[in-house]
Amino acid sequence: MLRIGLLGAGRIGRVHAQAIAAHPHSQLCAVSDAIADAAEGLAAEHGATARDSMEIIADPSIDAVLIATPTDTHSDLIEAATAAGKAVLCEKPVDLSLERAMACQAAAAETGQPVMVGFNRRFDPSFTALKSAAEGGEIGKPELLSITSFDPAPPPVNYIKVSGGLFRDMMIHDFDMANYLMGQLPVQISAVGTAIVDPEIGRAGDVDTAVVTMTYADGMIAVIKNSRRAVYGYDQRIEMLGSDGLLQAHNILENAVVKSTANGVTGAKPTYFFLERYMPAYRAEWDAFVKAVQGETAMPVTLGDGVAALAMAEAATRSAQSGQPVAMADVLKPVAK
Ligand SMILES: NC(=O)c1ccc[n+]([C@@H]2O[C@H](COP(=O)([O-])OP(=O)(O)OC[C@H]3O[C@@H](n4cnc5c(N)ncnc54)[C@H](O)[C@@H]3O)[C@@H](O)[C@H]2O)c1
Repeated sequence: MLRIGLLGAGRIGRVHAQAIAAHPHSQLCAVSDAIADAAEGLAAEHGATARDSMEIIADPSIDAVLIATPTDTHSDLIEAATAAGKAVLCEKPVDLSLERAMACQAAAAETGQPVMVGFNRRFDPSFTALKSAAEGGEIGKPELLSITSFDPAPPPVNYIKVSGGLFRDMMIHDFDMANYLMGQLPVQISAVGTAIVDPEIGRAGDVDTAVVTMTYADGMIAVIKNSRRAVYGYDQRIEMLGSDGLLQAHNILENAVVKSTANGVTGAKPTYFFLERYMPAYRAEWDAFVKAVQGETAMPVTLGDGVAALAMAEAATRSAQSGQPVAMADVLKPVAK
């Protein structure tokens, strides 16, 4: 039985608490949060104890920590937890700064402790099936990947201001999905972005609508489309075109009823947002982490995967700002000091 400490009892921390508590080989023992009431409330729901983050990290009876705190705390907590001999599952993104994330990766590697990054979409049954069909050669040679990822509504501007921007906060999931499906990093990234949904987002220095085009060494192309607003729900679709066919992962709908009448054919909307759409994926993600920590499998998403996606977000941010394509090699160059 793995004894787990959860750092952060906010939106996503609460989701992870359920998965940890429901798993037959993990036990939620301690919860921390900067707001004491939040930690105490969540701990009480699961028979755990509310404690300080650093106290949990220092406790030798805790085997692993799940970091679900705001992004600007991730690298510090990963370093502290791995140095204390803990296995770590940390929410995306690894950091707001690529340079800091790379330093964190190096420090964590020194400790030899396993670290997984919370790219939950890799554990979505539809996307897993699409990958396995592509790898099985069922559409021949993959040539063009298209990822659509639209949120139902933008977050408050106060969130936008500390989020690191759309490419680091939101499209990071899609960068990782492209890496997962393509099995390689792109060589070049071009991005355009606009604040067309909410001008306040533009005034905060961010975009709410963006398209990224990525090219690969072997000639493949991937396109990612993001919007912070799709009035019909959470739109999460993937399409992969290959030499022998097409794979499509459609949205999961609120129900499977289709109404056909003289007026037309209609159906239900996509599920509302990430909590509804990806709940099975969060549980599968936790199960994969437990299996990896127990030595049954390799770590399915590494800190290196988290750094790679952040480097792509960095390239896209630079490209959107400059209007020029950005070579991944330029972004990945170690920052010489
Ligand atoms: N994988 C996903 O689908 C997904 C979804 C949402 C959020 N996230 C990521 O999860 C992280 C948290 O996002 P959220 O939406 O849950 O935010 P949130 O603000 O709802 O929750 C964060 C919590 O952390 C607490 N906190 C702050 N500093 C802390 C510290 N040092 N120790 C302990 N607790 C601390 C805050 O009080 C807050 O309750 C972000 O990095 C975000 O990018 C991932």
